[in-house]
Amino acid sequence: MPTKLYSSIFPSIIFLSLVFLFLYSTFLPLYTNNHSSSSPAKKFLTSPSSYCNIFNGNWVLGSTKPRPFYDETCPFHRNAWNCIKNKRDNMGIINSWKWVPKDCSLERIDPKGFLSLMRNRNIGFVGDSLNENFLVSFLCILRVADVSAKKWKKKGAWRGAYFPKYNVTVAYHRAVLLARYKWKPKQSAVSDQDGLKGIYRVDVDIPADEWINVRDFYDVLVFNTGHWWGYDKFPKETPLVFYQQGQPISPPLGLSDGLQVVLENMVHYIQKEVPKNTLKFWRLQSPRHFYGGEWNENGSCLSDRPLEEHQRI
Ligand SMILES: *[C@@H]1O[C@H](CO)[C@@H](O)[C@H](O)[C@H]1NC(C)=O
Ligand SMILES: *[C@@H]1O[C@H](CO)[C@@H](O)[C@H](O)[C@H]1NC(C)=O
Repeated sequence: MPTKLYSSIFPSIIFLSLVFLFLYSTFLPLYTNNHSSSSPAKKFLTSPSSYCNIFNGNWVLGSTKPRPFYDETCPFHRNAWNCIKNKRDNMGIINSWKWVPKDCSLERIDPKGFLSLMRNRNIGFVGDSLNENFLVSFLCILRVADVSAKKWKKKGAWRGAYFPKYNVTVAYHRAVLLARYKWKPKQSAVSDQDGLKGIYRVDVDIPADEWINVRDFYDVLVFNTGHWWGYDKFPKETPLVFYQQGQPISPPLGLSDGLQVVLENMVHYIQKEVPKNTLKFWRLQSPRHFYGGEWNENGSCLSDRPLEEHQRI
């Protein structure tokens, strides 16, 4: 079951998005100050003097609550997911949690400073709704530095914004499995075993159409996938069937092995096809946080605190 998959593969990290926000604002200066042509990613990784593992730390309930960057009027929200406008419970507490790394100090993101560093550059997110949620929050924060920001949905993007003051585009490409997948209804009603309605064909070696043509456009790319690799999304009546080089993989792969093969292939593709000096991030997974049922089964997500070390969902 998916819950098992997540608990075995992914650590219990919640609100990881916030960490990434901080990561951007903290580390980008390390390479953007230097205008030589070598890879920014390399500089980022080899900067010896200021190394600090930003992921080693704790969530702390902040005593001083900074003013939120944005409110429900931010134009980049998706209505159904606008927690502020929809009056989600406990927003005050949720927004008071702060990620505190063990050995370094992590400043709040500075939208002006960030966009200045990114001038004439573009940032792309590719993956599932975790990346989309992050994007929305990110756009609303960056908008503080440029209220003339406009919606941007070109090149296959699902949503995004252009910041004219800085000539920066930040957008999200929806590709929940990263690889291309297509619905194929069952050919004939003759072999009506197992209640199979059709299959989703996944081409493990072909990126989804939504991002295959963006590899030269972005200077930073953030990838993720995870929550769609479950039998709740793809039950046995409508399963994923994995293809490689146009042929079904035999013997057929289960979801967990399919994820593994897709990740390997996508990493290979990215290394080969995306320009070397594009800065690439892989985002980790966060646990599902529905209580009392799934999202469509009266479940709710009223938790207002991170998971404890021993907790698994
Ligand atoms: C805006 O940025 C793009 C690169 O993303 C660059 O090609 C273009 O020349 C820039 N436009 C201006 C007006 O600086
Ligand atoms: C959800 O709650 C409604 C109203 O209480 C109930 O009628 C329905 O059966 C519940 N659905 C599930 C899947 O539990």
